[in-house]
Amino acid sequence: MEKANYKIAVVPGDGIGPEVVREGLKVLEVACKAEGVDYETATFDIGGERYLRTGETLHDSVLEELKQFDAIYFGAIGHPDVMPGVLERGILLKLRFALDLFVNLRPVKLYPGVECPLKDKTPDDIDFVVIRENTEDVYALEGAAFQPNTENEVAIQPAIYTRRGTERIIRYAFELASKRALERGKPAKVTLVDKANVMTVGHGLWRRVFEELAKEFPEVETEALYVDAAAMEFVLHPERFQVVVTTNLFGDILTDLGAAIQGGIGIAPSGNIHPGKVSMFEPVHGSAPSIAGKGLACPLAAILTAALMMEHLGEAKVAQRIENAVAKALQTGKIRSLEAGKMGMSTQEVGDLVASLV
Ligand code: IPM
Ligand code: MN
Repeated sequence: MEKANYKIAVVPGDGIGPEVVREGLKVLEVACKAEGVDYETATFDIGGERYLRTGETLHDSVLEELKQFDAIYFGAIGHPDVMPGVLERGILLKLRFALDLFVNLRPVKLYPGVECPLKDKTPDDIDFVVIRENTEDVYALEGAAFQPNTENEVAIQPAIYTRRGTERIIRYAFELASKRALERGKPAKVTLVDKANVMTVGHGLWRRVFEELAKEFPEVETEALYVDAAAMEFVLHPERFQVVVTTNLFGDILTDLGAAIQGGIGIAPSGNIHPGKVSMFEPVHGSAPSIAGKGLACPLAAILTAALMMEHLGEAKVAQRIENAVAKALQTGKIRSLEAGKMGMSTQEVGDLVASLV
């Protein structure tokens, strides 16, 4: 069989993006060598620095170029000198929408050796995945202002939900729950998180689609929680979750909470996925400009993000190697904290440690 030679587009981006991506690529290289997997990378200069220099966020021609790759490995974007929204909408959300990356997959996993902020919770209790819808909700439309900056100002910020969009993300969650349950020898479960008691129209659609699809997956246990209760349950009873499926905005908020309970945003990876198409992988954290370039950022999120990318490409062994190396590194006790600046090691030293354990 001919060996794949993956083409990976690398977008280091702004702030701590470049330094954590460097460590991710370092670990990826060792893991791919060990498994005999070939790949090539091309680095793209996209982000706030470039925007300030050229006025360009993400040109359509660059988007077309990116579509020729097997995957995109993304650091972070965000710049203190750029107004909020410009880079987010112009780059990150544009990529999610244009590539129709409808799944935002965010594992919440407490690794042994990581300090958990929740009392009495162990790695057995915190191991689930949040499937965040990634193309609709309040993110999809920019909204409208009526008579802005006057006394009559009206701001309209609509949320949209389509049946097709709702169905494909919920179906993805059910399929993932079945797969994970088989792998773990546990019963499958999907938890829907919404606010159907208030957003009766939009989240009413989500509830109906969820109930319809549940019939197609009789082997999967289902439950539905309102988002306020779900936030509480993330903290009190994380062990009840296996696969959580939720809307775009709630998923955004809940996955920062998810990151916190797994030990911090420094270890939370994510994938923006369209099955079978070019997908984009990025740490949950942002560009953290205040600590950029100082070697203070934790690269584990970026490293685990590389693992998610390889799993998506069908290279489960490479992914497992990377994850195992991270787990081993955490168990050495050498990494004192996952909080930026408190690791007791530099960004590069953490990367070196993980790479040495691949
Ligand atoms: C995330 C981020 C983005 C989001 C921002 C930067 C637009 O917070 O990926 O979670 O809201 O989706
Ligand atoms: Mn977020």
